[in-house]
This record gives sequence, structure tokens and C-alpha cells, in this order.
Amino acid sequence: MGVFDDMLKGGESLIRNEAALDYDFLPKLLPYREQEQKYLATCIKPLFSGRSGRNLFIHGPPGIGKTAATRHVLRDLEEQTDDVHALYINCWQKNTTYKVLLEMCDLLGYRFTQNKKAVELYKIVAGIVNKSGAVFVFDEIDKAEDFDFLYFVLEEIYNKAVFLITNYKSWLVELDERIKSRLIPEMVEFKHYNETETKGILKDRLGYAFPDGVWDDKAFGLVAKKAAELKDIRSGLFLLKEASLQAEEKSSKKIGVPEVNEAIRKLDDFTVKNSAELEAESKIIYDLVRQHSGKRIGDLYKLYQKKGGVSSYKTFQRKIAKLEEGKYLTTKKETGTGGNTTIVEKKLSDF
Ligand SMILES: Nc1ncnc2c1ncn2[C@@H]1O[C@H](COP(=O)(O)OP(=O)(O)O)[C@@H](O)[C@H]1O
Ligand SMILES: [Mg+2]
Repeated sequence: MGVFDDMLKGGESLIRNEAALDYDFLPKLLPYREQEQKYLATCIKPLFSGRSGRNLFIHGPPGIGKTAATRHVLRDLEEQTDDVHALYINCWQKNTTYKVLLEMCDLLGYRFTQNKKAVELYKIVAGIVNKSGAVFVFDEIDKAEDFDFLYFVLEEIYNKAVFLITNYKSWLVELDERIKSRLIPEMVEFKHYNETETKGILKDRLGYAFPDGVWDDKAFGLVAKKAAELKDIRSGLFLLKEASLQAEEKSSKKIGVPEVNEAIRKLDDFTVKNSAELEAESKIIYDLVRQHSGKRIGDLYKLYQKKGGVSSYKTFQRKIAKLEEGKYLTTKKETGTGGNTTIVEKKLSDF
């Protein structure tokens, strides 16, 4: 046996289907979310008989299948009927009313949008949708910069179900009263998966992405454990991909524990990459916490002010709470000599 037999040839990849490791890959089956999907379907059902559906506010921490479950339901809907339109829009990508309207036209198959103003696009969308009905899903709704499109949908579309999705439950509190009173959504909370579920989901994904036999069982177990600990499937996908890249770099044909450990060390980058989605002010606070993990919230606020931060203490506390909801950091209550205080820590302090 030659010394190169166990090695990958130049340009050879361990991954069979790279797309299956993408965060927005939608698997054929979506186990452990049957209840949620069924409920979403129930809220859409009245549209089939020309009535309005129910509006939902779907929330829960990142990486636990909110987007996947909702898109799955929409896919089933599209397979069932042509009478109900399914409009899924990600408000991070389409973050203004104008962009949302263009996207709606595109999804509805209307192509002549050039040089048209928002008022004209509103009419076009209403004209098409009001012939039947539609489900509107606005994912990452907290990223939208204005909400005229939402107001429009609530006022001008007759038969509809409007689903808003976000990682931040607290977002709803700050929503314009004018919109809130028209929306009156029911709350749907997604809870994180347990370790067995996390393992099951990642195992399926591994099957899509890799040929049999390249993953060492123990190494995969480590990935699943870490992802379960972080309560985020996406971090598991990151580890699967990163570990395979580590193995490829060594021209190894197998992915083992050392490669996973190297990938785990890189998990910090994963959070930082995700943090690109934070608005400037939260980013500053997040960086502060990374540098000064374990400090009391009051002391952090002082550091923040020293850096030129101008938000009030209350706003600062709110931003910390929001960062915690987004799983960028953790807080814990502590009783010290001066009474109760909150300690703020960066999430991945164990690396
Ligand atoms: N029950 C599940 N079965 C299979 N894959 C899942 C399941 N839940 C989540 N995923 C996968 O995990 C990743 C994160 O899910 P996603 O829906 O994007 O999370 P969220 O929208 O809650 O942040 C996606 O790649 C998704 O396909
Ligand atoms: Mg999502």
C-alpha cells in the first residue's frame, strides 16, 4: 500500500453535496416540528374557502427551525393549490417597503415593475392577490426599516394570513400601535431542540452532504453535543463543514475528533460572522462584552459611556437583553454586597 492511498488527491473533496450544508437548505423531511407545521397550516386553511386566515407572531432563538418549518408549510401549500398565493419575504434582504413590493410582484409573476412608483405597485399587488387570497410571511421582520408594506397588507388585502418571524420576542412590544391593533397576532413560540433531536437532524444532514464512511462516529457525536449545548442547529452545520475542510487541508479521507476540535475552536468566528446582522450600536456593545466578559452590567455601561456611547442605561439594558435573545451573550443574576446585579458574559467563553 502506497503512502498516498489514504490521502485525498489534489482538488478532491470530502463533501458530496455542499448545498446540503447551507443554512437555507430545505430538507425533504422536517422532523420534530410536526406540531408547529400543523398549527401554521390550520391558520392558513380558511383561505382555501375564501376567508381570512389567522395572523401569527413566530418567535424563538436562532437556528431552531422557524424559517425551515414555515417554508416547509408554504411548499406544501404550493403543491396543494394554485388558489392561495404564498409570499415568503426575508426582511433582512428586502428591508424597505419598496424592495418588499418589488419582491411581491416578482413572486406573483408580475414583471413590468420598471419605473413604477410604490403607489402603483401597491395597486398591482392588491389587484392580483385580492382575486383569491395569500399567506404573507415576513421573516426576520425586526430587520425591516419601515412598515408601510405591513400596513398596506393589513388594510388592503382582504383574505390573508400574515406571519411575522423573528428571534426577538421583545420586538413586538415596540411595534407601531396602528399596525399592532390591526395585526392582533397569535404567539407561536419555537423552543430549542434537545440533544437527541439535534443529533437526529444533523445526522440526516450528514447523510445528504457526505458519502458513507467519511465521518468517524465519535467525531460526529462531538459535533452533535456541541450543537445541542449551543441550542443552535446552524452551529452544528458550521462544525460539519469546518471539520471537513480541516480534514481536506490535511488531505485526509476521514473526518475525526481532532478535526472537530479544530472546528470547535473556530466557532467563535461563527458568532462573529453572524454578528454582521447586528445594527451598529448593538455591535459596539457586543464587542465590549467580548472584551470584558464576566463584568457587572453597571460596569459595562460605564465602559460603554467611556467609549462615547450615548444611550441611556435603560436602553443599554434593553440592548443587552436583545443580544441575549439573539444568543450573542448570556447573563446571570448574582447577589453581591451591594445587592442584586447582572453579570454579562460572552457566549463562547469556554474556548
Ligand atoms: N426539524 C428540522 N429538521 C431538519 N432540519 C432542520 C430542522 N430544524 C432546523 N433545521 C435546519 O437547521 C438550520 C437552521 O434552521 P432555521 O429554520 O434557519 O432556523 P431559524 O429560522 O429558527 O433561525 C437550517 O439549515 C434548517 O434546515
Ligand atoms: Mg430564520
